[in-house]
Amino acid sequence: MNRYMESIELLKKELTITTSDVLEIARDFQKHLERALEGQGSSLMILPSFLGNPSGEERGTYLAFDFGGTNIRFMQVELQGGKYEINQMFTFPLRDPDKGYDYTAETCTGEELFDFIARQIALLVREKRDYSLGHTFSFPCVAKGLNQVALIKWSKEFKTSGVEGKDLGLLLREALKRQGLSNVIPRAVINDTTGILLSAAYLNSSFEIGSIIGTGHNTCYLEREITWSKEPVIIVLESGNYNGMPMTRFDILLDQKSDKPQSGLLEKMVSGRYLGELVQIIINEMAQATELFRGWEGWAVWGTEAFSAREISQILKDRSPELTYIAGLLKDKYQTGGSSYKERQALRDICQTLMTRSARLVAATYLGILAHMDPQLRRVHAIAVDGSIFQEMPGYSDIVNNTMSEVLGEKAPKVPIGFIKDGSGVGAAIAAAMTEHK
Ligand code: BGC
Repeated sequence: MNRYMESIELLKKELTITTSDVLEIARDFQKHLERALEGQGSSLMILPSFLGNPSGEERGTYLAFDFGGTNIRFMQVELQGGKYEINQMFTFPLRDPDKGYDYTAETCTGEELFDFIARQIALLVREKRDYSLGHTFSFPCVAKGLNQVALIKWSKEFKTSGVEGKDLGLLLREALKRQGLSNVIPRAVINDTTGILLSAAYLNSSFEIGSIIGTGHNTCYLEREITWSKEPVIIVLESGNYNGMPMTRFDILLDQKSDKPQSGLLEKMVSGRYLGELVQIIINEMAQATELFRGWEGWAVWGTEAFSAREISQILKDRSPELTYIAGLLKDKYQTGGSSYKERQALRDICQTLMTRSARLVAATYLGILAHMDPQLRRVHAIAVDGSIFQEMPGYSDIVNNTMSEVLGEKAPKVPIGFIKDGSGVGAAIAAAMTEHK
């Protein structure tokens, strides 16, 4: 075997998550979860949402926005009792280098960010009446109530200043006031995973787990046995922060280069914000160890996000005999000065291996949560998932499903996994409605 084949094979071995790894990870994850529930130290957080699942009877028209990834999405949602319609929806990027703004940068303040949000909300407010609004804030937050929620710390490399530790409801209310929107009444701030679960459970009450695999990663679930509540409560785990996974040297290097080392370790192994960076790190290493990727080092620069999860999906979709799409992408976008077939194939192998690892790790965490919720799997616990990686990465959802089946065997049908599009924004509208129906 030549050096190139050897290093690809070695790489695959290092990044493969076997069935016994899945079982071990699931067991450890369950232990960490139960430790966290008992208030003992754990990298998982127990962040109660102050909500259980909706009854499905909530009705009315609500404003919602979904804040958390690359874009911010605004919508007006009509809840019709067990079904809903999105009447209006538009999306704004939080960063636009062409227009010269970046609301995720340290140079931007919380006031500027929330003024930007309030200006977009104004576009949805056409009538002279009161509007109830719910919104997601997809970062680790501690809540004292549904509308009293503070950001613990930024994740996903967000850096906007003056938001960590602040009451998000207050920041929004003040910004709405500055825009003259006193008829918009914020009712609830929830995590995006809670939003996904609420919108799925609104349609079908068997949904009990909500998860995102997009720019970031996180999961929440419906906890039925918690000492301080008679009613079931949705708990957000911030599972992207889980630190019990076996890390490779690539993960360690990525973590060291990141904005918040030692934080969000699972998220850095599985989510869209980081998968491209991992590919770059691996290419850099291979360029030094093999005859491949010589001269490519230039494009593989940390933090430029030059190579994103979108490119990984496109690379995985290239089934042409000569991998011509990949060749074009490398030439046009990265100016690598041409690529050999072997390099293109190696690049696709690296992407496939990382994507598979991501899906299997995420599936293992779902298995850990299920083992806590219902070890014998006596009931159905459907999982609602959204996010660009789950939705767009070719084969990703199949790998998650197959990994679950490897472990659950004939009980796998008790854990159906549903893709819920735009669920987090709709869920924020449902949360706002739930505050009025209490
Ligand atoms: C955040 C979570 C969020 C997830 C998905 C993570 O970076 O910490 O709160 O749910 O991304 O958006």
